[in-house]
Amino acid sequence: VHSFAELAALLDYQMLVVTAADGTERDGCLVGFSSQSSIDPPRFLVGLSDKNRTTRIAQRSDLLAVHFLTRDQRALAELFGGETGDERDKLAEVEWSPGPAGVPLLADCRYRFCGRVLERVALGDHIAHLLEPDDVVVGEGRPEWLTFQLTRDIDPGHEA
Ligand SMILES: Cc1cc2nc3c(=O)[nH]c(=O)nc-3n(C[C@H](O)[C@H](O)[C@H](O)COP(=O)(O)O)c2cc1C
Repeated sequence: VHSFAELAALLDYQMLVVTAADGTERDGCLVGFSSQSSIDPPRFLVGLSDKNRTTRIAQRSDLLAVHFLTRDQRALAELFGGETGDERDKLAEVEWSPGPAGVPLLADCRYRFCGRVLERVALGDHIAHLLEPDDVVVGEGRPEWLTFQLTRDIDPGHEA
């Protein structure tokens, strides 16, 4: 008999950095739980852990930014996934600029969108945020994505 955790450890999917700002505080974290959820209208889901500082800020934000990481961005994954804003100001260590509603846009990320939060649904220990993508940026060329299997050795800043 196998556990679901054994199967989940073998799955693969893209990794992204979700950032949030509430007017006072801002932060971002590495996220693997995500999926497009509708074509027309376009909708995208991100799952934020109820332990994360980013999630606490996201509860007070109307808008989140979603940055899709490429393979050469492992250092960003280590920073945003391995450190928590409860202990370290991650955004002080990267280049970013304020987007709509002040949401941090990471300068090095060439594939991203901002999304208005349409719904939040508690799904166990993660909260699904349903986003309406807007302000989309698509870099040149064909990206090679950074995936879960390439980052699962990173020790999360907050335990899941
Ligand atoms: C491989 C990997 C996948 C992760 N997936 C998620 C995820 O889907 N959702 C989430 O909220 N956190 C996820 N995390 C954890 C956060 O990125 C991590 O705990 C981060 O340090 C939280 O930072 P914060 O407290 O500043 O928000 C993942 C971490 C790693 C290493």
